[in-house]
Amino acid sequence: MTTGASPPTVRAPITDRLLKLKEIFTSKYGCEPSFYARAPGRVNLIGEHIDYCGYAVLPMAIEQDILAAVKPTDFDVVHLSNTNPSYLDFSVSFENIQIDKTKPLWHNYFLCGLKGIQDHFHLTSLTGMNCLLDGSIPPSSGLSSSSALVCCAGLVTLTANGMTLSKVELAETCARCERYIGTEGGGMDQSISFLAEEGTAKLIEFSPLRATDVRLPAGAVFVIANSCVEMNKAATAHFNIRVVECRLATKILAKSKGLAWRDLMKLGDLQEKLGVTLEDMLAVVDEVLHPEPYTREEVCEFLGISLDELRATVLSQNTQEVSTFKLYQRAKHVYSEAARVLDFKKVCDEAPANALQLLGDLMNQSHLSCKDMYECSCPQLDQLVDICLKSGAVGSRLTGAGWGGCTVSMVPVQKLDHFLSSVQDSFYNTDDQRSLLKEKSLFATKPGCGAMVILEENKM
Ligand code: GLA
Repeated sequence: MTTGASPPTVRAPITDRLLKLKEIFTSKYGCEPSFYARAPGRVNLIGEHIDYCGYAVLPMAIEQDILAAVKPTDFDVVHLSNTNPSYLDFSVSFENIQIDKTKPLWHNYFLCGLKGIQDHFHLTSLTGMNCLLDGSIPPSSGLSSSSALVCCAGLVTLTANGMTLSKVELAETCARCERYIGTEGGGMDQSISFLAEEGTAKLIEFSPLRATDVRLPAGAVFVIANSCVEMNKAATAHFNIRVVECRLATKILAKSKGLAWRDLMKLGDLQEKLGVTLEDMLAVVDEVLHPEPYTREEVCEFLGISLDELRATVLSQNTQEVSTFKLYQRAKHVYSEAARVLDFKKVCDEAPANALQLLGDLMNQSHLSCKDMYECSCPQLDQLVDICLKSGAVGSRLTGAGWGGCTVSMVPVQKLDHFLSSVQDSFYNTDDQRSLLKEKSLFATKPGCGAMVILEENKM
C-alpha cells in the first residue's frame, strides 16, 4: 500500500547524462543548476481506457524519463529550453500563463504542471526558474511522455518553491492539471510516474488513489515495440470521444435502471450504485444498449435533455460536433477490461504453473477488445501484435491510448533473443522508415522507480 511519503530527494554521483545536461544548462543560462528532477514514462500491462471510468489499471514505470535541470531565480519569469532542438525555447511570466488547447506544443505540458502546483496552493506568484529539459521517452508513442513532462514540471515547481506534497497528492494534482491541455485522461500515467517502485508493477486503484505491488512472473520478459505511427492524443478528438461515449453509456444505463443519472459520469460509479458484479454489468449492457451507434438526438430524447444541455454537461470542448456515439461497444470493453485487470493480478498473486499462458491470454483478449470494441488500434499496431505473437510472445497488445504508439508483449525468457531478431526482421527491416528508428523502437523493459529530485553528490 502507498504511504503519504513525498517523492524522494537523492544525492547521486553525476552521470554522463547529468553532466551533459549540466554543461548545456551552464552555457545556456550562465549558471549551474541547483537541482535535477526526473519523472518516468510507463508501460501499461493491462487495463486500457478504463482509468477514466474509475477502474483499476496495471502499469509499471519504465527506465525512460523526462529529466530537468533547474535553477530558481529572483525574477518573475520561467525560462524553458530543451536538449532536443526541435522543441523551441519558451519563456513566460506568472501573470500570463496561457495553455493553448489548440496546439499541444511541448512547453504547454510544462505549463500544466506549473499551473497545477500554483492552483493547488492558491499561489498568486511563484519563484522564477531557468529549466533545461531532456526526454528519453519516444514522443507520441503511448509510453506517456506527455504525462511524464507534466509530472516532472509539477515536481520541479514544487521543489523550486520549497513546498512539499505526498506522491499521491502530486499524482492527483498532475492528473487534474494535465486536463488544462484539453484531454480528459484518467490518472494512470501520473499515478505510476510518482508511485512506481523498482522491481514491481503496480495495481493502481482510484478514489482513493492507491497502488499495490504486483509481482510479475519470473519466467517472462516484457518487451515494448513501437509501431512507428505517432499518436498525440491532444491533437485529435479520438481520446475525448471515447471518454464522452463512456459518460453517455453511464447515463443511459443509469436512467434505464431508475437511478439518479445526472450526477453519474463513470461506468465504475454506476456499477457501485447498482451493487452488482462486472459480469452482471456486462449482462446489463446487453439488455439495455443496442449495438447500432446512437445519434445525438436519440441520446437527448432518451435522457429528456436538450442538445445545449448535452453539450454543456457531457461533451468536451473538442467533441461538441460529434453526431453519433457507439455506447454498447465501449461499455462492453470497459466492463470486460476491468475484469481482465483483476484476473491478471490474481494470476500474478497465485502464480499457478500455467501463469504465463493465462496472463498471455488476458493480454490477447485485451488487444482484441481494444481493436474491435473500443476501436483504438490501427492496422500497423495489429500487424505488430501479430508479428510479436508469431515471434514467440505468449501475449501481446497495444499499450497506452492507442491509435498508434507501442505494443507490449510478454515473452518467455528463453525465447527473448529469437523474439527480438524475428520482430526486427519482420517488422522493422522490411520498411526503410521503421528501420531508421529501430534502435529505440524494440526493447525489453523492467519495472523502474518513480519520480525523484536529484542533488549532485559532493555539492552543497
Ligand atoms: C492515456 C491517458 C490515460 C489512460 C490511457 C488509456 O495514456 O492519459 O489516463 O486513459 O490513455 O488507457
